[in-house]
Amino acid sequence: MRIKLTIVLSLILSSSLYASVVDELLTEYRATGVETFSAKAGKALWSQEFINAKTGKIRQCTTCHTADLRNEGKHIRTGKIIKPLAPITNPERLTNLKKTRKWFKRNCKWTLGRECNAQEKGDLLLFMQNFNGE
Ligand code: HEC
Repeated sequence: MRIKLTIVLSLILSSSLYASVVDELLTEYRATGVETFSAKAGKALWSQEFINAKTGKIRQCTTCHTADLRNEGKHIRTGKIIKPLAPITNPERLTNLKKTRKWFKRNCKWTLGRECNAQEKGDLLLFMQNFNGE
C-alpha cells in the first residue's frame, strides 16, 4: 500500500514539477551557475561555422537542419530527411527529455567537436523554442 502510494505520488510530482522539457532543462543549466539565456546568442551559434579538425570541412547546425527551422532538414551523411526542429511547425519537438538530451550531446560533438556547455545549450533551446522565421 505504502509503496503504491509512493509511486503514485512521485509520478504526480515528476509530471507537474516543470511546465515543459525546456523549463526543466533551463532549470538544470541554471543550477550550474548560468544566470541568463539568450535566443540571440543561440541564433548566432546555430549558424556559426566550425572547422572540423579531421576533415578540415566546415560544420554547422544548419548543415543538417538548415537555417529555417520550420523546414525539413537533410542529414548530410545519410541523406535522410529530418523533420522540422521548430515546435511552431513540429509540436513534438523539445517535448521528450531523453531525446533532446541525446541529440544535443551527439550533434554538439559532431558540429563543434565538443559537447556544448550549459550556457550554449540554454541559448540554443530558447532560440529553437521561439523560432518563428527570424
Ligand atoms: C550531421 C547532421 C546533424 C547536425 C549537423 C545537427 N543535427 Fe540535430 N539532429 C540530427 C538528427 C539525425 C536528429 C534526430 C532525428 C530527428 O529528431 O528528427 C537531430 C535532432 C536534434 C534535436 C532533437 C530535438 C527534439 O527534441 O526532438 C536537437 C535539439 C538538435 N538536433 C539540435 C542540434 C543542434 C543545436 C545542432 C548544432 C550544434 C545540430 N542539431 C546539428 C542531425 C544533425
